Amino acid sequence: MGAFIVFEGGEGSGKSTQARVLFRRLQREGYRVMLTHEPGGTPLGEAARRWLKSRRGTEALAELFLFMAARAQLVRQVLRPALERGEVVVCDRFGASTVAYQGYGRGLDLELIHQLNRWATGGLFPDLTVLLDVPVEVGMGRKAKPGNDVFEGAGLEFHRRVREGYLAQARQEAQRWLVVDGARPRREVAEEVWQRVEPLVKGTRQ
Ligand code: TMP
Repeated sequence: MGAFIVFEGGEGSGKSTQARVLFRRLQREGYRVMLTHEPGGTPLGEAARRWLKSRRGTEALAELFLFMAARAQLVRQVLRPALERGEVVVCDRFGASTVAYQGYGRGLDLELIHQLNRWATGGLFPDLTVLLDVPVEVGMGRKAKPGNDVFEGAGLEFHRRVREGYLAQARQEAQRWLVVDGARPRREVAEEVWQRVEPLVKGTRQ
């Protein structure tokens, strides 16, 4: 089995940048590595992504099922095969996003979400989740302009609950999470992530 590393964080946290930086470093160091994201990474997932980010008026429960459908497809079509080939998989968002956004943000039942996550992932959970934590105002301030994105437009209170949802998950599973201050310079963040990731992935190298 390879190693499964997930990046999480609120809007403008810098997680996608850091996921890419880690992906490139792993490539340079000779690892077999894949970079993907949620929702997405498969045709079904990309279709769900377009719908979820741009269509207003989706019921919270329908939203939840769409994220889960995208996840079920990505896990079976992409993630598991890559991990079984011994690759390192870097994924921008995963199940913890649903707990934070649909659970803490939208107020859906947390136990239901955990249960659906177990079904959608077939029990695949990250070896490490890196949380890029930034105050909501800082993250939203990094977004160039308030576009039409459903989640970016959800309001500060929603995003404060999302942040709290992430921090709560990190506290509950401290040994499998790394919480990084995402307001620090990009290079420092990348170095802190690398220090934690390198020992985890070493065994996957051929
Ligand atoms: P992003 O990956 O470009 O940030 O866009 C994904 C958006 O979807 C982001 O606003 C967070 C949201 N999201 C959820 O609400 N629940 C989920 O389970 C996932 C994966 C993403």
